Amino acid sequence: MTKERIGILTGGGDCAGLNPAIKWAVKTAMDKRLESERGVQYEVIGIKNGWNGLMFEDGVDPKAGDYITDLDEQIVRTWDRYGGTMLGTSRTNPYNPKNDRSRLVLENIEKLKLDALIAIGGDDTLGVADRVTREGVNVVGIPKTIDKDMVETEYTLGFETAVNVITEEVDRLRTTAGSHRRIFVVETMGRHTGWLALEGGESCGAYIILIPECDFSIKKVNDLLLEGRKAGNRYEILLVAEGAKPSGGTEFVRQDGVDAFGHKMLGGIGEFLAGEINKGTGVETRSVVLSHLQRGGAPCAYDRRMGRYFGIAAVDLIVTRDFGKMVCFRDGEITSCPLDQVVGRTNYVDVDKNYDVERYSGRRTIFRYRE
Ligand code: F6P
Repeated sequence: MTKERIGILTGGGDCAGLNPAIKWAVKTAMDKRLESERGVQYEVIGIKNGWNGLMFEDGVDPKAGDYITDLDEQIVRTWDRYGGTMLGTSRTNPYNPKNDRSRLVLENIEKLKLDALIAIGGDDTLGVADRVTREGVNVVGIPKTIDKDMVETEYTLGFETAVNVITEEVDRLRTTAGSHRRIFVVETMGRHTGWLALEGGESCGAYIILIPECDFSIKKVNDLLLEGRKAGNRYEILLVAEGAKPSGGTEFVRQDGVDAFGHKMLGGIGEFLAGEINKGTGVETRSVVLSHLQRGGAPCAYDRRMGRYFGIAAVDLIVTRDFGKMVCFRDGEITSCPLDQVVGRTNYVDVDKNYDVERYSGRRTIFRYRE
């Protein structure tokens, strides 16, 4: 029987759903029944800490140096219950223009005798996956990001768990907000897109939702809040994505500089807005930044299931030698699309279709915009 070796890595920001995908990729690849059907015996190794796991120097033992680890069905048996990634992750960019180490990655893929590589990540990680594909490496991708901003797929791992966190945390805030008759501004993640704020806000019933795709007027936010008070609201919850900004303003940056992929660290809009609301309405306003809580914790049922399906589908692509693809979820089906159609593109919220620009909230019509 032919023997082949698969490597698997997780890159970029962690989230819930990565471990279920790893588990099911390993179980599917090493399944004994499927093995005899395929006539190929797969071995799977874990690459640690994203692309960094493939950046060990000559003379370094990758196992002892904490770059790779063995995986098998017993090792991954319980992983689907846990958040984060058991393989570790990093925002390492081997093609960083300031320090291009991509040769090392390609040489190490050869050294490790990898016949195929599964990369689980967002646009950055899969951007690297696309580049190594063009260098002749057999890669398949699995989409993950709580921002749900990738194109060609209606789901990215981690999103639904993050929406659950938002819903639970806002439920908690409601009691204290109501007791004190306060306004709470809750800042969510979402660098370029507002899916998380929007769907999180729809799930928790936020009064106002502000997203990067629609610049907002502070005066209008305050008018809406006062309108709510007049109508009898005891308190209001306002959700704002970290990338949202007031009209004529710029996004709020938490820290100077950029990461290896050129991203700024955003944050601060929630606190700023709470100040403006305090001033503009005279109502006591507080802000809360949900930050990495949204990426933490055990995967919800949906992320466990989608991680499972994506992991299985990734191995299917390897078995059929359909490389250079990303597994995706479209129209209720697990399917795939070329990596080069995904990378560098962003799935923005369609404001006309999904957002109410008058109320700064989720849509109130469903069928009117259906083609
Ligand atoms: O993965 C995307 C994201 O969740 C963004 O919404 C956010 O800006 C970023 O991660 C923060 O990542 P970190 O602080 O881990 O670098």
